[in-house]
Amino acid sequence: MSSSPPTANKVLSSLTRRDPQPTAQVASPYAGVRVRRGESTDLDELLKLEERTFDSDRLSRAQYRRHLDSESAQVLVASAPHNHFLGAAVLLFRKRSAVARVYSLATQPQARHQGVGTALLQAAERAARRRGCRALRLEVQVDNAQAIKLYEHLGFERIGGHTRYYENGADAWRYEKLLA
Ligand SMILES: CC(C)(COP(=O)(O)OP(=O)(O)OC[C@H]1O[C@@H](n2cnc3c(N)ncnc32)[C@H](O)[C@@H]1OP(=O)(O)O)[C@@H](O)C(=O)NCCC(=O)NCCS
Repeated sequence: MSSSPPTANKVLSSLTRRDPQPTAQVASPYAGVRVRRGESTDLDELLKLEERTFDSDRLSRAQYRRHLDSESAQVLVASAPHNHFLGAAVLLFRKRSAVARVYSLATQPQARHQGVGTALLQAAERAARRRGCRALRLEVQVDNAQAIKLYEHLGFERIGGHTRYYENGADAWRYEKLLA
């Protein structure tokens, strides 16, 4: 779901750096999957996942560093007992906005279809609620059937689109989930 800054989107959540590490067991067929707050020691894995997942609109090391240190961003990492890095999501917040944005979401290729993406999005929802947000939004390339299926499965609704949103010229759908 990446795209060009500053409007680019990939996916995210809402604990502050002072919150305790948000390790939460989530409903997932991937045994023991947990979602935690990303740390600077995750940078190499985050970059590797970015490179093997996205052809364009990639987050750079410097951008990830900023997100890891920012109060207005949250990097979430999914892990399991025997695999410390199954996937990641980036969640963005804006001051005086009750809408959080999932800016990036990716699961390691070998870990897909096992609930890791679901776990990351559920963690993003929890984080956004904790931050008082009333909605979670994201953009997705119109031909990304796997991601669209996942978002719709989790209750996201299509609310519009952007023409030529991505660096590669592709269009995006905008999705939103209202948080109870
Ligand atoms: C999109 C993406 C993040 C999904 O990640 P994932 O870990 O495979 O996601 P999940 O396993 O949670 O969900 C995907 C599938 O599992 C199913 N699923 C999720 N939780 C489930 C559960 N508890 N029980 C049964 N099925 C479940 C979903 O319905 C979906 O069905 P399918 O595999 O039969 O197609 C992953 O494909 C990816 O990284 N793609 C490349 C990057 C990308 O496109 N990112 C999104 C940019 S907008």
